[in-house]
Amino acid sequence: MKIAILPGDGIGTEIVAEAVKVLKVLDLKFETESALVGGAAYEAHGHPLPESTLKLAKQADAILFGAVGDWKYDKLDRPLRPEQAILGLRKNLGLFANFRPAICYEQLTHASSLKPELVAGLDILIIRELTGDIYFGQPRGRRVATDGHFPGSEEAFDTMRYSRPEIERIAHVAFQAARKRGKRVTSVDKANVLETFQLWKDVVTEVGLQYPDVALDHMYVDNAAMQLVKAPKKFDVVVTGNMFGDILSDAAAMLTGSIGMLPSASLNDKNQGLYEPSHGSAPDIAGKGVANPLATILSAAMMLRFSLNQPEAAARIEKAVDTVLSQGLRTPDIYSEGTTKVGTVEMGDAVVKALG
Ligand code: NAD
Ligand code: IPM
Ligand code: MN
Repeated sequence: MKIAILPGDGIGTEIVAEAVKVLKVLDLKFETESALVGGAAYEAHGHPLPESTLKLAKQADAILFGAVGDWKYDKLDRPLRPEQAILGLRKNLGLFANFRPAICYEQLTHASSLKPELVAGLDILIIRELTGDIYFGQPRGRRVATDGHFPGSEEAFDTMRYSRPEIERIAHVAFQAARKRGKRVTSVDKANVLETFQLWKDVVTEVGLQYPDVALDHMYVDNAAMQLVKAPKKFDVVVTGNMFGDILSDAAAMLTGSIGMLPSASLNDKNQGLYEPSHGSAPDIAGKGVANPLATILSAAMMLRFSLNQPEAAARIEKAVDTVLSQGLRTPDIYSEGTTKVGTVEMGDAVVKALG
């Protein structure tokens, strides 16, 4: 078994170091190989996703990814920007199914920005389609407008699109995931306005007929955003497109206490996966040693379960995270009165210690 380690930029390097530390004490048989990605790879090789990094990722059984990006690259041509690395990995490896589980640990009910009773016991799973939608649709670009409200002026455009097979396969993923848990799927769309999402809704409904044991309902994305903060526990599995899933999963992260708690798994049809926290490179706190490594450590647990067939080891990590939270250890993002503030490395060390 080979794990490609791609720390990336900003807090990416800090949090991945902690996850690797945790993996190493488990005494499992796997090889690791690290490579540069994002801004770090651009600095060293002139490209955010060098051929060598892509090759390593393709050959690995699983990829542990940190985060990419920094404001200082915002003026680069788009193909050279750090974010293209993660988009390129998702596209090249066909990682179309993104799992973002929002679980509020009992110990963190007071860290959430919502009232404790709204989030206590929260366990929802956002399934985000990851290789289609407006993120990848063509054409896109800038041009001089020939029509519209301001002909002759500069305009920019992107293309939102989904094909039937793309929707079918992510719908199957969602229904199958729901079967293993609360047996409810909420499909989030904007079918009242967008053709793309009318097709989405029609296809998810059709696929749903093959899963009579799973309840399906549909919700417009604006209402879903509202319901997520009004009564999040009403959701079980949420399935949605690439862009809505990006936005809703950041909102859902706050229900768990912090974006620093939300892991993710991005899978292809061969069960090869890329595992990364749902958050970014957090340039505002990078280098300060305060980033929460738990989303990345929990992503490593997802990697052991989904791609490396090590469910016991995954459960051990999850239990160790639960233990350190019970010990009252908190990075600043999840701190609340009466708990103990720790840094990134201390948090990683505590998880290692809890593993025994
Ligand atoms: P971000 O997720 O990096 O940060 C948003 C806020 O959350 C910041 O205040 C940050 O300090 C905080 N935060 C994030 N992770 C944290 C952690 N583990 N512990 C404590 N606090 C944490 O989003 P942003 O600021 O909008 O983007 C920064 C850069 O990251 C951009 O270049 C963006 O494109 C990139 N990004 C990359 C990924 C990825 O690599 N998959 C994901 C999201 C954003
Ligand atoms: C995420 C990020 C990425 C996305 C960016 C960095 C391309 O926000 O993984 O959620 O939009 O998918
Ligand atoms: Mn995002």
